[in-house]
Amino acid sequence: MKTIIEPFRIKSVEPIRSTTRAERQQLLAGVGYNLFHLKSDDVLIDLLTDSGTSAMSAEQWAAMMRGDESYAGSPSFDRFEAAVKDLMNFKHIIPTHQGRAAEAILFSILGGDGKTIPNNTHFDTTRGNIETTGAKAVDLLCAQGLTPSDLSPFKGNMDLNKLQAFMEENADKVPCVMITVTNNAGGGQPVSLANIKGAAKIARDFGKPFIIDGCRFAENAWFIKMREKGQGERSIPDIVRDMFADADGMTMSAKKDAIVNIGGWLALNDDTLAEKARMRLIMTEGFPTYGGLAGRDLEAIAQGLKEVVNEDYLRYRVRTNEYIVERLDKAGIPVVKPAGGHAVFIDARAWLTHIPPLQYPGQAVACALYEIGGIRACEIGTVMFGRQPDGTEIPAQLDLVRLAMPRRVYTQAHADYIVEVCEEIAKTSSELSGYKIVDEPPALRHFTAKFEVLGV
Ligand code: F0G
Repeated sequence: MKTIIEPFRIKSVEPIRSTTRAERQQLLAGVGYNLFHLKSDDVLIDLLTDSGTSAMSAEQWAAMMRGDESYAGSPSFDRFEAAVKDLMNFKHIIPTHQGRAAEAILFSILGGDGKTIPNNTHFDTTRGNIETTGAKAVDLLCAQGLTPSDLSPFKGNMDLNKLQAFMEENADKVPCVMITVTNNAGGGQPVSLANIKGAAKIARDFGKPFIIDGCRFAENAWFIKMREKGQGERSIPDIVRDMFADADGMTMSAKKDAIVNIGGWLALNDDTLAEKARMRLIMTEGFPTYGGLAGRDLEAIAQGLKEVVNEDYLRYRVRTNEYIVERLDKAGIPVVKPAGGHAVFIDARAWLTHIPPLQYPGQAVACALYEIGGIRACEIGTVMFGRQPDGTEIPAQLDLVRLAMPRRVYTQAHADYIVEVCEEIAKTSSELSGYKIVDEPPALRHFTAKFEVLGV
C-alpha cells in the first residue's frame, strides 16, 4: 500500500481549542509577541518542542501502575536498566530527571577552566553546562550541515578532518569527544554510522572517552537504515547497538526517543567516573536507583524504549516531516532539506528577504504561524543567538523556524492543516513586518524578550 498510516488507534483524546484570528492578534500583543508566554490552551497545534510532549501508549500507562516507589532497590529500576542496556550496553546506567541533569553531572566532573569539548553541534543546554564550568564548547559540524538546501544524506556528521586537527592541537585540554544524534541544533539531521565510528576512533587514538548525546537515537538509526550503504537489511535495534558499541558513555533525554514526558540518564563504562557521577547524583538528583524520577517514570521509559525502535512507528514519524517539507517546497516556501527526524525547519531568512536578520525574519514567521493558524513554533535564529557576550548584536548563522513534532500526537489532517497555514502566509508574505526587541534579559533572551512590530 502507498499510504503510510499512523500505526496506532486512539484510546484517549485531548480536545484542542480554536480561537479566532482577532483573538490571536490580541493574545500575541498581550505577550509582547513572545510565543513562550502564550497559554497552551490558546494554541491549536503546539510545535514548540518534541521534548516531553509525546503521547504515551496504553502499555506505557499500564507499566506505570507497576511502578515500585521504594527509595532503594526498586524492581522498576531493574526493568529500566535492562531496557537501556538492551540497546546501549554501557556498564553503568544512572537515571536523571532529564537530559540536562545528566549533562550537568558529567561536566561537573569532566569540565573546568581551560578544558575544551568538541561535538558536531552542542545543544544549548549542553553548551551551557560546559561553559558554566569554565570550559569551552566547540562545534565541528561538516560543511553540508550549514547549507539548508544541500541534499546530503548525513548533514549531522562531524567534520572528521577538523576533529583530527583539533585533537592534534588541543588533546591535552580535551576531557572527552561528543557527538549528538540527531543534530538537533542543525535541523535534526542524522549522523552516519561510519561517522560515529570515525569520531570514536579519533577519540580512542588520543585516549579520550567518546560520549554520545543520544536524545534522538532511534530517528538517527532509521536514517542509517534508509540511507547508509549496507545498512538497509539490519534491524533498528541492531543498528542502535552498533551506534553505541564504540562509545564510552552517553547522555540522554528520555523526553525525546524514550517517548515519555520526563526522564533521562547518564551512562558510563568507566568505574571511577561512574562513582563520581553517582556521588554527584545523590547530592543533586536522588539515590542511584531512581535519580530524580518516580519508579513509575522508570517503567514508562523501559516500555517506551521497546516501542520507539518499531519500524512502522519510525516510518510514519519521519514520513510526516518529509511530507510537510515536500509540500512546502512545492509551494515555494524555503525549508531545510532533506527533512529532519523530529522537526520541519523553515528558512525564514530566505523566505522573507525583505526583513533583515536584525529585524528577526524568524520571529515574523513564528508570529504569523500563530496569528494565521494558531500554530506555535520556535524561532531558531537571530533572536536566539544574535546577542553576543560583549553586548553587541549580530545575525545568527541562519534564521530558521522549527516546527517540532511531538511523537504520536498529531495526525495526517494536522499535517495538511500546517501546510495550508504556511500556504496562506505565503500569499502575503512580502507584507509581513519585522520586529524589534523592546525588553530583554542579560542571557537566553528568546525565552522572555518582549517585541514590537516594526512599521505599524
Ligand atoms: N541534547 C539535545 C540534543 C536536546 O535536543 C535536548 C533538549 C537536550 C540535550 C536536553 O534535554 O530537555 O531533557 O534537559 N532539547 C529540547 C528541544 C528542549 O526542544 O529541542 P532535556
